[in-house]
Amino acid sequence: MNDSRLVIHHSTRQAYQDSFAKDVRTGLTVQPKTLPPKYFYDALGSQLFEAICLLPEYYPTRAEAEIFHRHAAEIVSQLPAPVGVVELGSGSSVKTRLLIEAILANQPELHYQPMDISASILQHSAEKLLGDYDRLRITGHVGDYTCGLDSIVRREGEHLLALFLGSNVGNYTPEESRALLKSIRSALRPGDGLLLGADLKKSPDVLIPAYSDPLGVTAVFNLNVLARINRELGGTFDLKNFQHRAVFNEDAGRIEMHLVSRVAQTVNIRALDLRVEFQTGETIHTENSYKYDLPQLATLAEATGFQPVNTWFDDERRFSCNFWLAT
Ligand code: AVJ
Repeated sequence: MNDSRLVIHHSTRQAYQDSFAKDVRTGLTVQPKTLPPKYFYDALGSQLFEAICLLPEYYPTRAEAEIFHRHAAEIVSQLPAPVGVVELGSGSSVKTRLLIEAILANQPELHYQPMDISASILQHSAEKLLGDYDRLRITGHVGDYTCGLDSIVRREGEHLLALFLGSNVGNYTPEESRALLKSIRSALRPGDGLLLGADLKKSPDVLIPAYSDPLGVTAVFNLNVLARINRELGGTFDLKNFQHRAVFNEDAGRIEMHLVSRVAQTVNIRALDLRVEFQTGETIHTENSYKYDLPQLATLAEATGFQPVNTWFDDERRFSCNFWLAT
């Protein structure tokens, strides 16, 4: 598509490839071994995540969509028109459509600035959006949140609504989430807003199947990070020798995903000139997914320069959508 309404900026590919190599080396040479979850999302991994969102056990996407179906008009009316929208980790932008439509009901045009680590899903979803909404203009940023936040623009007289949806905040430790929310806050001005989708604490009987589905889609999503090391860094991971595991860490208030070595084994990673030894049962910690309660969310807002204004829930109160004003 050659559309003057679409611009996509790429953080340089080489820098990204270098950080993948560097982060893999760091993560696989520390004890316990870890890999950052952002590397799940290559073109395949982003589609596997879309498949996760369709699983009956994975409730967050549906719960948040339910909130938008019911409350989009009220949510977008928290800021005076005209607003511009910025989104961190936009992925397919499917839920965002509900907010875009509600905003376009209040103003003639909308400038949407999505950022995502996967170039292919960003490009594809931007083109689909422009095909469906002729009063939309899109400036996309491919990369992690830090580079996109630096390049946010606003039109004269416009308020910005930043979207951090889908419980993406759950990937960050309390310390990291304070740092990230502060950097979101510095990209905004007083009077701008943040819509934060946060998953709520609940029984492990609901949480565990959401992260360990019987069909094995989450397992494949998790294993893809090893396949990616094989493809991009010349790794020799034998995927049959690793098992997906999701555990609920009650003290930390988070789901953890791990890849457990089924045997004692050595893996080589050619591009890193690295040999990695695994003992039987040794794990690579690949993701945290923190679950929040309302007092924690209020504390987080106050610690990062926001005033909590309004919260919406799905019927079963599994998920929260929080509108915070930048103070
Ligand atoms: C995209 C980070 C919100 O933590 O629920 C889904 C990712 N991992 N199933 C989450 C995920 C396994 C998801 N986030």
